[in-house]
Amino acid sequence: MCGIVAVIGSREAAPLLLEGLRQLEYRGYDSAGLATVEALAAGPAGSPAEGRLTCLRAEGKLINLTHRYEQHGAPGQCGIGHTRWATHGKPEERNAHPHLDGSGRLAVVQNGIIENFRTLREELQAEGVVFRSDTDTEVIPHLVARQLERIQQGRPASGALLLEAVQQVLPLLHGAYALAVVWAALPGALVVARKAAPLLIGLGEGEFLCASDTPALAGFTRTILPLEDGEVALLTPLGIELYNAAGERQQRTPSLLSGTEHVADKRSFRHFMLKEIHEQPETAALWVARHLPEGGTAGGQAGASLVALPLDEGVYEGVERIQILACGTSRHAAQVGAYLLEQLAGIPTSVFYASEFRYAPPPLSAHTLTIGVTQSGETADTLAALAMEQERRSLVADPAFAPRLLGITNRPESSLGRLVPHILDIGAGIEVGVAATKTFLGQLLAFYGLALAFAERRGGGATGHGPEQLRRLVAALRALPEQLKALVEDHDRRCAELAHLFADTQDVIFLGRGINYPIALEGALKLKEISYIHAEGYPAGEMKHGPIALLDARVPVVSIAVPGLVFDKVLSNAQEAKARDAQLIGVAPEGPDTELFDTLLPVPEVDELISPLLTVIPMQLLSYHIAAHRGLDVDQPRNLAKSVTVE
Ligand code: AGP
Repeated sequence: MCGIVAVIGSREAAPLLLEGLRQLEYRGYDSAGLATVEALAAGPAGSPAEGRLTCLRAEGKLINLTHRYEQHGAPGQCGIGHTRWATHGKPEERNAHPHLDGSGRLAVVQNGIIENFRTLREELQAEGVVFRSDTDTEVIPHLVARQLERIQQGRPASGALLLEAVQQVLPLLHGAYALAVVWAALPGALVVARKAAPLLIGLGEGEFLCASDTPALAGFTRTILPLEDGEVALLTPLGIELYNAAGERQQRTPSLLSGTEHVADKRSFRHFMLKEIHEQPETAALWVARHLPEGGTAGGQAGASLVALPLDEGVYEGVERIQILACGTSRHAAQVGAYLLEQLAGIPTSVFYASEFRYAPPPLSAHTLTIGVTQSGETADTLAALAMEQERRSLVADPAFAPRLLGITNRPESSLGRLVPHILDIGAGIEVGVAATKTFLGQLLAFYGLALAFAERRGGGATGHGPEQLRRLVAALRALPEQLKALVEDHDRRCAELAHLFADTQDVIFLGRGINYPIALEGALKLKEISYIHAEGYPAGEMKHGPIALLDARVPVVSIAVPGLVFDKVLSNAQEAKARDAQLIGVAPEGPDTELFDTLLPVPEVDELISPLLTVIPMQLLSYHIAAHRGLDVDQPRNLAKSVTVE
């Protein structure tokens, strides 16, 4: 949520800031802004030059800010920028960042939420400060300016002075934030800080670029220094001074961004989302190549087992329960994962909304593995829930309750990667579309790997999934990339042809059962978030207990019906909907059983346990084409952001 950038060096800052913001626009696009500081004249020997601050802001997408920059310019080699996802205050220009102090000489951008901003605002107002926005952020420039006034006492403006003021203000701020501050008096320095929100510094040749996420850094440098929680840094063209929350100087070796996966390119596709749907066969092929070793045998010795995951053996040992924390689409992947972990590996598994878990955690259970699932690795609810679990378990003396945390993510370098000791990297490459598609498939595959790895170590046991069945599942997974390729191409065409039928649709019901119930939920979420059509996912058997009252000829029903445990039941549930005149769309194999559907989106017949990896494709493409047909902004749907870094 919200992206911030900051730059200092010898080049003009504004073009670098705009390019950085372009790469971060997926984090929010309600408004954008930048502030630069231009050196006016060299100061007396030994003192820094005085400068002038230019602040430009525009409501709406980044292009509006770019136009404003083209008209007005923003000179200077030091600056900060922001792309906003509105939390406090409407998405209007006056609430756009940067926010300024009363003198207009100090500017701040912030990503996060200052939870005690009302108290701070009242305190400042009582001192005569006039606020110009409704945001929580605006307290920060006023607080820093007040602190500067208190401590300056005739000292010349310097980076050390600004740093000291910011360090003294940070303890007053409650909540999670990443922020950057520039001061007109200081054209050669800026200060950045973070607490429970991401911020990375990219190291160039005599210049530094800070950003909320790696895509903004990838075109600038591959050498990065992620700020740790609570750290503050003073940046000048000469170097970085890094301090922890206690004010102690820190030294750390920078790391390298790997590969080209941080560069976003739409290729010839109309939208990133469509490109990312089409990349799923590749996501699956990479996963198969990495994790299903040739010649692996169920129950084999290390190196010869069916599944090779980069996890210490200790992750599997003695696990009696699993709890999974996630939000949105990641939570749907977790629900499929829970089904697999219970039915394949026989481990009792619960899935929680991360945002609920933190405030109503279940009683502590012994020998429990906690898995956090987040494609971005930055979802504040998920991170906070994991941190809470880590903390409450660390307080228990009995080692049976000790924290055991595992993360599943597409961004191993994210805050999640720094929070948990074990990571399963889904390796799907950067996903730009706000609607998660290939990362969902990657998360599903991670759960297939984990469930198989547990099942293999437990020899099937109570669930009756012996080595033979595990081998069959692995063989089915190997066939997946080819099946996905054919399916994506076929359904891209079919769904494009179908989309016009939904031109006036207001409600859609998605039905599934068993392992495909979470796919019905995911189908409904995809449709809601990009087409703004109301949609609900239900377990098909639950319809008759109330929701069936919604059905009539105006409400299409998408039913996932794959051969297996509940095939006949799902077909009966679909018949019940048809009897209420609903237009029935089936996601099912072709055959006499599925002739009841008005429209069929055919999927190959596979082991029911594997089917979610295929049934999700028509869900994604149907939503995509409906939204595209309606002419909506598929990649940047209203009110949403790719990375939800506020609780
Ligand atoms: C996915 O299409 C959604 N945009 C959203 O539900 C997302 O899955 C959720 O915010 C969690 O994100 P995460 O995977 O980065 O934690």
